[in-house]
Amino acid sequence: MTILHSEADIIVKSPGRINLIGEHIDYNGGHVLPAAIDRKVTMWFRKKDTNLCRVNSEDEGAFTFDIKQPLTISDTHWENYVLGVVDGIQKARPGKLAGFDCDISSELPIGAGISSSAALECGVAKGLNALFDLELSDLELIEISRMAEHNFVGTKCGVMDQFAVTMGKQNKLLLLNCETLDYKLIDAEFAPYKIVLLNTNVSHNLASSEYNTRRAACEHALSIIQKDHPEYKFLAEVPESIIETYNGKLEGNVYQRALFVSRENARTLNAANLIQNGNIKEFGALMYQTHEGLSKNYEVSCVELDFLVDFSKKFTQVVGSRMMGGGFGGCTINLVEERFVNEFIDMAAKAYKKQFDIDLTAILVATSNGVEIVKS
Ligand code: GLA
Repeated sequence: MTILHSEADIIVKSPGRINLIGEHIDYNGGHVLPAAIDRKVTMWFRKKDTNLCRVNSEDEGAFTFDIKQPLTISDTHWENYVLGVVDGIQKARPGKLAGFDCDISSELPIGAGISSSAALECGVAKGLNALFDLELSDLELIEISRMAEHNFVGTKCGVMDQFAVTMGKQNKLLLLNCETLDYKLIDAEFAPYKIVLLNTNVSHNLASSEYNTRRAACEHALSIIQKDHPEYKFLAEVPESIIETYNGKLEGNVYQRALFVSRENARTLNAANLIQNGNIKEFGALMYQTHEGLSKNYEVSCVELDFLVDFSKKFTQVVGSRMMGGGFGGCTINLVEERFVNEFIDMAAKAYKKQFDIDLTAILVATSNGVEIVKS
């Protein structure tokens, strides 16, 4: 049984996100530059008069749970994105939820690093908030969605994805301070370049465990640095010159992680200025630097991503390229001269197929508004 779409009480459209620059620093109190995109998850919600909720994903299948019983983590990975949000809402608004059905249809490839997971979480949060008149603020919905990922999915993620998915604006990038959640909207103006995502179609299963390991390494680095420099509250705000004094004092890879975080935060602030001044070429050069750091210092890339970034360097029409999101697979984000886009995609797909015998998928994205109720 699925909801007849015309009978839905609420329809939600929830976007994926891109991130121009500022990777792996949201959980280090850094700055990031994401945007919501025009690829979305659509969700149809309907109240019902039993306690048995049914959530049905076109791609993943259906599951049920009793809204009046305590929720537990599911063995079926994707269900936890939904269950975690429902659990968070139950805690924020005890006793306010009742039975509902939810149908889900997604245009977002899973494991591509464009946050199909945050789209799902924030869509469920926004939808249930409206369906049951809970009056939770956007910031509360963002936090509930982020904590679903921590508590039910098991990834100790930062705030970037849920924030971008919820607060995104068409034609804008969000320059977000992940500590204060202050943000500035910046025009997403890259002419004559277009944003092209190249999906490696690989998703190495290290992603979640390695993510948490990186986060722990950063927390460790900060705790050591704070012993000498209590003035620093977040790793991203420690200047590179101070980090360098810990060469040999922090374990090798912890030192490398800290160095990347400090540089990436500085790079992001610099990058935001460059975009605002229309200096897209220099901005692109910073994207390459970010990739280098993610690959060599932070070690979250993989051979497929490195191959695509290297391949892009052959063409002057590509001004920047780097892996995007958590890493270990997913997409590269590329700034490509508009009239070269098709040729570039064709050449990259052929070279990638030859190298790995895997089909590459290109995704042309535009920025869009964050999660929206389209019918209520
Ligand atoms: C994932 C996480 C984000 C962020 C990125 C890396 O997408 O969910 O919080 O840390 O990785 O920048």
